[in-house]
Amino acid sequence: MKDNYNRNISYLRISVTDRCNLRCTYCMPAEGIDLIKHSQLLTFEEIVDFTRTAVSMGINKVRLTGGEPLVRHGIVDLVKMLWNIEGIKDLSLTTNAVLLKEYALPLKEAGLQRLNISLDTLDKERFAKIARRDKLDDVLAGIDEAIKVGFKQIKLNCVIEKNKNEHDAVAVANYAKEKGLQARYIRTMNLEKGEFWIVDGGDGGNCSICNRIRLSSCGKVLPCLFSDLGYSIREYGNKEAILQTLEHKPKKGSISKNNEFYTVGG
Ligand code: 5AD
Ligand code: SF4
Repeated sequence: MKDNYNRNISYLRISVTDRCNLRCTYCMPAEGIDLIKHSQLLTFEEIVDFTRTAVSMGINKVRLTGGEPLVRHGIVDLVKMLWNIEGIKDLSLTTNAVLLKEYALPLKEAGLQRLNISLDTLDKERFAKIARRDKLDDVLAGIDEAIKVGFKQIKLNCVIEKNKNEHDAVAVANYAKEKGLQARYIRTMNLEKGEFWIVDGGDGGNCSICNRIRLSSCGKVLPCLFSDLGYSIREYGNKEAILQTLEHKPKKGSISKNNEFYTVGG
C-alpha cells in the first residue's frame, strides 16, 4: 500500500506493552510511568486480527516492541499466532534481553526470525547508571543464549549521545565483532523537541524512505513517531484506522507531545 508521497508501506511495528523491567534514563523517569489501564491494552485477539488486516493490505514485515515485549505475559503465544498469518515474510522483536536467557529458545521455536537487542555499554556500573537497574549480566547471558539457539543476524541497538566514537559505543562495536553480531547506533532522540536522526546502520529516522506504521499498546495506529496523529482501532476499525494512517502519514516527522518510546516502541 502507498501513502500520499508514494512511499510503499510494508512494515508494521507493534508495541505489545508499555511496561519495562529497566528504566533507561533517555526513555523513562526514575519513578516509572503511569501505566495504561489493563482494559486499554490490546488483547492478543485484537493484535492478531489487526495484523491480519494489515497483511491483507500490504504489510509483510512485522516487529514486536514495547516497553519491553518479554514482560507481556504469553508473548511466545502471540509470536506463534502472528507467525501463523500467511503473508508475513519477516517477524522480529526488539528486546533489552534481561529475560532473553529464558525466552530465546521458545521464541525461536514459535517462529520468531530475528532479534534486535538494546545494548548501550559493556560496563556494569555504566549499565546500572543508564538503565537504573544492575542487569548487565542477565543481558549478556541472554545474548549468548540467543546466539546459541541459532538466531541469525542479531542486531545490537546502541543508544549514543552524539557519535559512535564514544567509549561505550566502541566497546559495543568490539563486542559485536567478537560475537559476530551487527551493531547499530542510535543518537538519543527527543520526541517533544523534534530531535531525531537517521539511525547509523538502519533505516529509522529517514523520512523519505519511511515504510512503517505503528500499532501502540493501547490500539492506536500511528503514521509517524514524530507526530501526534493516531487512529484507534477500537474506534475506527482495523481497515479504516489503517486507511486514515496512510492518508495522514506526514512527509516528514516533526514533534510529538503524546508519544513516548515506551508506548510506541523505539
Ligand atoms: N532516543 C533514541 N532511542 C530511544 N529508544 C528509547 N528511547 C530513546 C531515545 N530517547 C530506543 C532505543 C532502545 C529502544 C528500546 O528504544 O533504540 O534501544
Ligand atoms: Fe525499557 Fe527500552 Fe525504555 Fe530502556 S529504552 S526503559 S529497555 S523500553
